[in-house]
Amino acid sequence: MKTSYYFLSIIMLVVLFGLVNIDDEKTTINSETPVWEVLRSFGAENPNHMPDKTIEGANAERGEQLVKYGITSKPKGGKTSKQSNHFVCTSCHNIEKEDPHLLNTDPQARLEYVSQNGLPFLQGTTLFGAVNRTSFYNDDYEKKYGDLVHATRNDLREAIQLCAIECSQGRKLKDWELESVLQYLWTLEYKMSDLGFSESDLKKVNQMEKGATKNEEAIRMIQSKYLEGAPAHFVKPPEDRKTGYAYTGDPENGKLIYELSCLHCHEQEIYSAFNLDNATATFKHLEKHFNRYTRYSVYQVARYGTSPLPGKRAYMPQYTKEKMSDQQMEDLKAYVKQQAGR
Ligand code: HEC
Ligand code: HEC
Repeated sequence: MKTSYYFLSIIMLVVLFGLVNIDDEKTTINSETPVWEVLRSFGAENPNHMPDKTIEGANAERGEQLVKYGITSKPKGGKTSKQSNHFVCTSCHNIEKEDPHLLNTDPQARLEYVSQNGLPFLQGTTLFGAVNRTSFYNDDYEKKYGDLVHATRNDLREAIQLCAIECSQGRKLKDWELESVLQYLWTLEYKMSDLGFSESDLKKVNQMEKGATKNEEAIRMIQSKYLEGAPAHFVKPPEDRKTGYAYTGDPENGKLIYELSCLHCHEQEIYSAFNLDNATATFKHLEKHFNRYTRYSVYQVARYGTSPLPGKRAYMPQYTKEKMSDQQMEDLKAYVKQQAGR
């Protein structure tokens, strides 16, 4: 009798200890904790793009396929039609971290980072951390899409739909497809380590008060480590295309842009009927038109993009100041010139 009581109490102790431990793990913020979970624990309200679990057939795997291949399996069997005949989301957006530091939108820092990490250098902002942003199509995109942008400014679902239709020149996503893409984007949420929190910073965060009331200070501190929206400013081609922007180009850097950006879409006509490669004739053609007022002028297409005819054909999105600097444009020109043998 006595020994069984003894055993029973040991078992209870083990169980109790286990419970306490589980509880501990739940509340301890570590480098892998998703940022929204941390914000919520300090009393922040959820964003309006929380997944809607009531939509049947939506899941992150389907979303991932839509983003990468533009096609997935329908919940009731069979395959969807292609979302777009021209593009997939990853034609223009990375799905990985693309900036060495989340507060820095300098395109040169990004170019070096993506080239070290085997990623392309693109016009769209990475979808990594999109769920952590609360403002979309910022600044000058209003000039391009006008009223269409108003609905998307603070609504990630609307932003995805706008991009599916206008950027991809494709069809609208069905409810379950949209919800799937959103669920996939939630798998690309920032973790505390992405914000640059060290172990000692995390210790401090863990000591900040979590109670019944909102801890504004903790929320502000965490949100100050990343941008709530990607800035976007349109720039013009140089005043005089012959003299170009007032920078001396570095062909080595231009090579990176050509290979990680231009070829991403133009090599073997992957997303465009206009072919680019490493042949001298190709560079000669680009060089000849670079400074001109023609449809093949890189100044022209990179700064203004080409115009989409809705649903009809592919177009080229422009590079904002945050996606290619004037210096980088001159670097590209220097590389094109060098390869053309001039
Ligand atoms: C042809 C290029 C292109 C394609 C294809 C494309 N996008 Fe975009 N997308 C852009 C550009 C350019 C922007 C402008 C804002 C930015 O990303 O900085 C944008 C903006 C967005 C935004 C808002 C980002 C922000 O922070 O402002 C989301 C979300 C988005 N796209 C999702 C998608 C999804 C999902 C798909 C696939 C269904 C897709 N896009 C396909 C080019 C494209
Ligand atoms: C996101 C994909 C994408 C990227 C990146 C891209 N382009 Fe384009 N580009 C296109 C598409 C699509 C067109 C539309 C032409 C077509 O397919 O008919 C186009 C058009 C052009 C044209 C005009 C061709 C014509 O027939 O009028 C030139 C020149 C051009 N691109 C050069 C470049 C250069 C140089 C770069 C790198 C700085 C670049 N592109 C990056 C997709 C892209």
